Amino acid sequence: MNMWSHQKIREAFLKYFVEHDHLVIGSSSLVPVGDPTLLLVNSGMAPLKPFFTGEKVPPHKRLCNIQKRVRTNDIESVGDRHHLTFLEMMGNWSIGDYFKQEAIELAWRMISEVFKFDTSRIYVAVYAGNNKLPGIPPDNESHKIWKNLISSERIVRLDAESNFWGPAGAYGPCGPCTEVFFDRGESYGCGRSTCGPDCECGYFLEIWNAGVFMQYYLQEDGTFTELPFKSVDAGAGLERFAVVLQAVDSVYETDLLKPIVDTIVWRSNLPADSRSTRIIVDHLRCSIFMIADGIRPANLGREYILRRLLRRTFLHSKLAGIDTAVLQEAAVMVREIFSTYYTELKSAGELIKHILEQELSSFEKTLNRGLREFNKIVSRSSNVISGDDAFRLHDTLGFSIEITKELAHMHGLTIDEERLKERFEEHRARSRGKT
Ligand code: SER
Repeated sequence: MNMWSHQKIREAFLKYFVEHDHLVIGSSSLVPVGDPTLLLVNSGMAPLKPFFTGEKVPPHKRLCNIQKRVRTNDIESVGDRHHLTFLEMMGNWSIGDYFKQEAIELAWRMISEVFKFDTSRIYVAVYAGNNKLPGIPPDNESHKIWKNLISSERIVRLDAESNFWGPAGAYGPCGPCTEVFFDRGESYGCGRSTCGPDCECGYFLEIWNAGVFMQYYLQEDGTFTELPFKSVDAGAGLERFAVVLQAVDSVYETDLLKPIVDTIVWRSNLPADSRSTRIIVDHLRCSIFMIADGIRPANLGREYILRRLLRRTFLHSKLAGIDTAVLQEAAVMVREIFSTYYTELKSAGELIKHILEQELSSFEKTLNRGLREFNKIVSRSSNVISGDDAFRLHDTLGFSIEITKELAHMHGLTIDEERLKERFEEHRARSRGKT
């Protein structure tokens, strides 16, 4: 067993922050409470927003935890080495207590002394300022603090897109942040001259948002106001820590996900590193956590997100000849790995099994008919699927556009989006009785 199993990483992270006077709080449900800006908890700080605004008093000024979260904005990137829809965030927070100096020093000691990352491969980024946010100056203070810890060539300044975080949702607390990257080596790089820590290619893996310096509140009208006090919101991706500490190529080879990958691979012809395997593993895991938190597949909001994840899982499974029994086995494996930390999974076995069966049986007919029709369309299309065909699949066969797009992508085809949009508009106008 690798020295840094995911259990060890969790324990070491929490122990370190407890030793620095942080109180461990539990992970909240994925369903946000009293937050109209979010469908799902998307970050460690999301459930803690009222502490940052001063609406609620935290049980302690220093907190830490491992929070489950779902991010669907990257759903199309799932299949590469690192993108996931379900993630675990190891977080530490100062609510009106320490600020930049201590946050950065805490992060550095954890990286160098607790986890003993090879510090010659660490890069950090600070906020460079941005013309669009004129009232928010470049973060020279963090730059100065890092300069005492790491050589200046390995400190980069990045703009708002990378180094201004939040709000989690349409409005709320936010601020400039400082991030830590691990240099994975040139073989992971894209070779472009512009490649650097903020490049998505994988050369530099962002392992820690070592501090969002929560100082501002983005109002609904787009203006920033100052929060009543300054706070820190820091978060490290457990999966990414595991990639580096377990010295593996992708998150799917860490001990968090590999047993699930193996369950799928042993019972199918899919290669472990195929996009389909990764989509099945990621989406199934995410769906299981959502179901255990009380979400049921349906056609709106977070319920639709669950349906979309499940249907994409079924699509890829069907195409690879994986039957439901294998998905059920993989679901059991998910519960085995995670129920020690997320005890809600323990008693949810029957429920998860039932929802997987039910959702598959309600989708199976549509899936089979849609696939037959899609194959006919492909045989008569060159590079582009016509908007009329995509619309027909949706309108008469109930095949969602997302599924058609997914299949088109797998066949190296695109969809005539313009015509598709026209068809949807005509359809909407007709349903309003205007034509
Ligand atoms: N909220 C920040 C993030 O999600 C730091 O935890 O990156």
